[in-house]
Amino acid sequence: MHAAAKPTMRDLQEQAHNVGHDYANGSPHIRHHSVRQRVVDEVQRVLGSVQDRKGRCRILELGAGHGTFTDHLVAAGAEVEVTEMSAPSAELLRHRFRHNPLVTVTHDPEGKAAFSGPSLDAVVAISVLHHIPDYLGTVERLIQRIVPGGAFLSFQDPLWYPRRSKVSMSLDRNAYLLWRIGQGGYRSGMATRIRRMRGVYDESKAADMVEYHVVRQGVDEKALHAVLTENFHRTHMHRYWSTQSGLLQALGERMAPPTTFGLVAELRR
Ligand SMILES: C[S@@+](CC[C@H](N)C(=O)[O-])C[C@H]1O[C@@H](n2cnc3c(N)ncnc32)[C@H](O)[C@@H]1O
Repeated sequence: MHAAAKPTMRDLQEQAHNVGHDYANGSPHIRHHSVRQRVVDEVQRVLGSVQDRKGRCRILELGAGHGTFTDHLVAAGAEVEVTEMSAPSAELLRHRFRHNPLVTVTHDPEGKAAFSGPSLDAVVAISVLHHIPDYLGTVERLIQRIVPGGAFLSFQDPLWYPRRSKVSMSLDRNAYLLWRIGQGGYRSGMATRIRRMRGVYDESKAADMVEYHVVRQGVDEKALHAVLTENFHRTHMHRYWSTQSGLLQALGERMAPPTTFGLVAELRR
């Protein structure tokens, strides 16, 4: 008997981000005004300044999901190239933007299509880098496409776990658990939780592999920052609390240490 083939990252992304996938549920940066506005404000400020200087702004948006932030890029007057690993999401985006010639959508099953193509004024990656096993290599490749004066923005990636305090990790995990209890699907949720507590990850399960940061202990914000400072004159790191529950989001913003980061790099060398 043949063993079942190991699913590819694309299979897993499509399992997790299928046609009916609700990108807002479980996404603090879409659900909570304060987190979403932080992202939107920076996108508008940075892309607006590129537009003001150059009179145009060619953007790559990596992993756009169902286009929540693509709308804001379009509103900023940008020409947007989207790459999306999930075929159903790419199809939905194509349909949504079919009357807008400024938006092109490429289904990118291998996660490599974004590495080549025409020059760009900016790259935007929102809640995506933590899904990519080699996120540092990916960012290095994407930067090569950005012209001098251009920008890079990423938001909504989990801070590197080993640098976070026990208090930070436990507030974050418990806030997630409290929210998760209200979501149902206890049996599969508990099974995932138990595998994570034991440090065991199942490479055939989207719950373990799509949220790749859990396997790899978050995203190394300092390593990413170093790559960006090498390539851009100005960089800024946002660190903020982000959790699924609305109530705990409001409380955590006042009291809890940050869990999540965004990086904004301007003026490509
Ligand atoms: C959490 S969703 C975020 C979607 C959207 N950016 C948002 O914030 O609503 C991550 C998306 O990235 C896509 N993705 C993951 N790895 C990718 C890669 N290497 N290239 C392009 N898309 C990718 C997934 O299919 C999924 O749609």
